Amino acid sequence: MSEKVKSKKRGAGSKNPTAAAIIYVVAVVLLVLPITEWLGNAPREFGTSPELSFLNLPARLFALVGFVLMFYQFILGIRLPLLEKVFPRATNLKRHRMLGKVAFVLILLHAVMMLSYDYATFGQLLFERYRVIGMIAAACLVVGVVAAWFFKPLKLPTKAWRTLHLLGYVVFPLGFYHANSLGTEVITGEWTVQRPFTLFLIIYAVLLLYRIAIAVRTWSSGRTQPSG
Ligand code: HEM
Repeated sequence: MSEKVKSKKRGAGSKNPTAAAIIYVVAVVLLVLPITEWLGNAPREFGTSPELSFLNLPARLFALVGFVLMFYQFILGIRLPLLEKVFPRATNLKRHRMLGKVAFVLILLHAVMMLSYDYATFGQLLFERYRVIGMIAAACLVVGVVAAWFFKPLKLPTKAWRTLHLLGYVVFPLGFYHANSLGTEVITGEWTVQRPFTLFLIIYAVLLLYRIAIAVRTWSSGRTQPSG
C-alpha cells in the first residue's frame, strides 16, 4: 500500500488527526446517549402490546438517532471555518450528503410508523397540536430533501432547489418542539436526551445566525461592488 493511501486511511482525510479524533469521540458519545436511554426503557415496555413493541418502540429509536444525525447535518453543511481546519470541505459535504440520507430515511420511518401506531391503537389518526407539528416538520423535510436529491430529473433551477433545501432549517426546531412535548425518552432522559437536544438547539440557533450574517455580508458586498 502506498504511503499516500496509508496516511489517508489513518487520518480519514483529516488535516489535524488529534482534533479529528476528539470530534469523532464527541459525535459518537452524543449519538450513543439517547440510544442508552431508549435501551433502558425498551425492555420494560416491550411485550405490552404488538403495536407498542413493533411500531412505537422502533419509531422512537429511529427518531432519536435521526434527530442527532440531523443536527450533524447542519454542522457539516454550513461550511464552518473551524471544522474546515480539521476536515477538508469536500469531506464535510460528502458526509453531509451521506448522513443526510440516513437521517431522512430514519425520520421518515419514524413518521410513518408513528402514524401507523396511532391508527392501530386508536383506530384513527390523531391531530393534536404536537403531532401536527411533527407532520408539518415531516412534510418540510420531504420537500427539502426531494428537491435536493432530484433537482436534475425534476429540472429544478439551482436557485429553486437551494431555496427549497433551506426548509431543512425549519424542520429542526419544529422537530425539537414536537419531541420535547411528546417523546418518552426526552421525558425520562434529562441528561441523556433532554439536555443534549437543548444544547443542539442552542448551537443550531447560533449557527443559523452565523449563516444569516454571512449571507447579509455577501449580499451587501455584492451591492457595493462597482457593476463594471
Ligand atoms: C407524521 C409525522 C410525525 C408523527 C405522527 C410523529 C409522532 C410522534 C410521537 C407520537 C412521538 C412520541 C412517541 C412516544 O414517546 O411514545 C414522537 C416522538 C418524537 N419525534 Fe415524532 N412524529 C412525526 C414527525 C417527526 C419528525 C419530522 C421529527 C424530527 C425532525 C420527529 C422527531 C421525534 C423525536 C426526536 C421524538 C422523541 C422520541 C423519544 O423521546 O422517544 N418526529 N413523534
